[in-house]
Amino acid sequence: MMPVAFTVNGTACELNLDPRTTLLEALRDHLFLTGTKKGCDHGQCGACTVHVEGRRINSCLSLAAVHDGDTITTIEGLGTPDALHPMQQAFVDHDGYQCGYCTSGQIMSGVALMKEPCGAADADVKEAMSGNICRCGAYTNIVAAIQHVRKA
Ligand code: FES
Ligand code: FES
Repeated sequence: MMPVAFTVNGTACELNLDPRTTLLEALRDHLFLTGTKKGCDHGQCGACTVHVEGRRINSCLSLAAVHDGDTITTIEGLGTPDALHPMQQAFVDHDGYQCGYCTSGQIMSGVALMKEPCGAADADVKEAMSGNICRCGAYTNIVAAIQHVRKA
């Protein structure tokens, strides 16, 4: 076991973890932040997307110990049911989810995308979001939601 300390959604957290623990497991199984989903567990679906130091990563591919000292944001840190983040509100308004399993990862990717170089066209957003898979096929509405926030 080894000590790991990071800040998650503004709160300092200290954990004692098996060195093999992924960031996704630390968030879900040790901090009980279950908004971040485990889909493929192999870096292929994007369901586990969180922000580390403001940049999106697949938390299933990253060991928690690597993030000692880092600032991490999960979907729980984005907005609240009473005060949704603009991207969360846009997903509601544009019907950007069906089963919802991919949704937190899609939203975290969409928010990070706002700070990345990305062209203006829908095709550019689709390319930038290509790491986030939606088994329900809500892609058209997801792109509409992200474009709505980008143009706001
Ligand atoms: S669970 Fe991490 S990319 Fe699929
Ligand atoms: S809304 Fe069901 S997987 Fe995307």
